[in-house]
Amino acid sequence: MLIKYKKNFEKIAMGLLSFMPNEKDIKKLQATMKMYETDESSQLFLWKDEDIKGLIGISVLNENEIEILHVSVNPSFRHQGVGKSMVSAIRNQFPDKKLVPNELTAAFLEKCEADHPTT
Ligand SMILES: CC(C)(COP(=O)(O)OP(=O)(O)OC[C@H]1O[C@@H](n2cnc3c(N)ncnc32)[C@H](O)[C@@H]1OP(=O)(O)O)[C@@H](O)C(=O)NCCC(=O)NCCS
Repeated sequence: MLIKYKKNFEKIAMGLLSFMPNEKDIKKLQATMKMYETDESSQLFLWKDEDIKGLIGISVLNENEIEILHVSVNPSFRHQGVGKSMVSAIRNQFPDKKLVPNELTAAFLEKCEADHPTT
């Protein structure tokens, strides 16, 4: 299930974020974490069942749209539907909003949209 990021998950969240191609540099990673902690329109979520397996970060752009900024799954748990489940959980959490990708999440979002052609 999707849980909201809290400070005690900082290390695991940074580890997951670092799998994103634009978050390889530690300074950039720290700046991104700070953005999620301070920017009210940005929210970070973790996917947790027995383990914390993935992360999804969003930004509320306006009353109609949510941008998917980051999606990352621990390599040990990839290809098990965690990524798609996180996108679907965000869709359910914000049912009145359209999900829009950035250049990094576009291809995966497109893959997810194949399952949800109406959004
Ligand atoms: C992208 C990522 C989040 C997918 O997570 P996952 O839990 O393995 O994904 P799921 O199991 O839900 O879905 C797997 C499907 O997505 C496809 N997929 C994986 N990464 C993809 C990508 N970057 N673009 C398009 N499709 C992708 C797989 O080929 C697979 O397709 P299939 O169902 O036809 O076999 C994971 O590979 C990851 O963390 N990558 C590193 C971070 C990253 O690069 N993020 C940017 C893209 S969001």
